[in-house]
Amino acid sequence: MGCIFDLDGVIVDTAKYHFQAWKKLANDLGFDFTEEQNEKLKGVSRAESLNLILQWGGVEVSDERKEELMKSKNDNYLSLIEKMQPEEVLDGVSEFLEHLSQKNVPIALGSASKNAEIILEKVGLIKYFSVLIDGNKVTKSKPDPEVFLKGAEGLGLQPKDCIVFEDAEKGLQAALDGGFYTVGVGDPDVLFEAHYCISNFKNLDIETLFKKVKSAK
Ligand code: BG6
Ligand code: MG
Repeated sequence: MGCIFDLDGVIVDTAKYHFQAWKKLANDLGFDFTEEQNEKLKGVSRAESLNLILQWGGVEVSDERKEELMKSKNDNYLSLIEKMQPEEVLDGVSEFLEHLSQKNVPIALGSASKNAEIILEKVGLIKYFSVLIDGNKVTKSKPDPEVFLKGAEGLGLQPKDCIVFEDAEKGLQAALDGGFYTVGVGDPDVLFEAHYCISNFKNLDIETLFKKVKSAK
């Protein structure tokens, strides 16, 4: 068995930095951007996020301008994550990754973010990942299963032999459509389709977890 992790919202809480950067972009364009709207962008690629935001703000721009806007949002996001520290890793994640590596369970990343590698470096967790599939390596966004299928392929495993950890509905859908076992990280009412849900990674044991996902209907 292998484990495939989403990044944003599973390993680190970067949604707050994405929110600040998108809000600045929206405000500069003359409209507001709310936390509720930000929720809808979880798991959504940068380009698709921009399209949605422009649609919400009722603004139309050329493709060239979209490229400029994405660059400026990302430059701002990069300056916000510049000072990220290992302390920002979500509860229990570092211990769980260490537990998996002790048990020789292979680990992959399956993230929509093009900044995934930088973030894993900054928080000191990159050493645990033998396969990194991020926004630079996929052509289709979640809920398409491509990112997780490539992760499984990199690990040399079938989807039915991997657990995907996801916090976003679109990511969960991608994993289910790809034929993976799924663990939802967050609110079980939102992630009710997952085989199993956790609120955090504290004291998680992989053997118990395997049994739980396999026995789920
Ligand atoms: C996902 C986030 O992981 O990555 C989205 O949940 C984000 O909010 C997407 O838009 C793309 O991220 P980036 O870092 O490539 O702009
Ligand atoms: Mg996520």
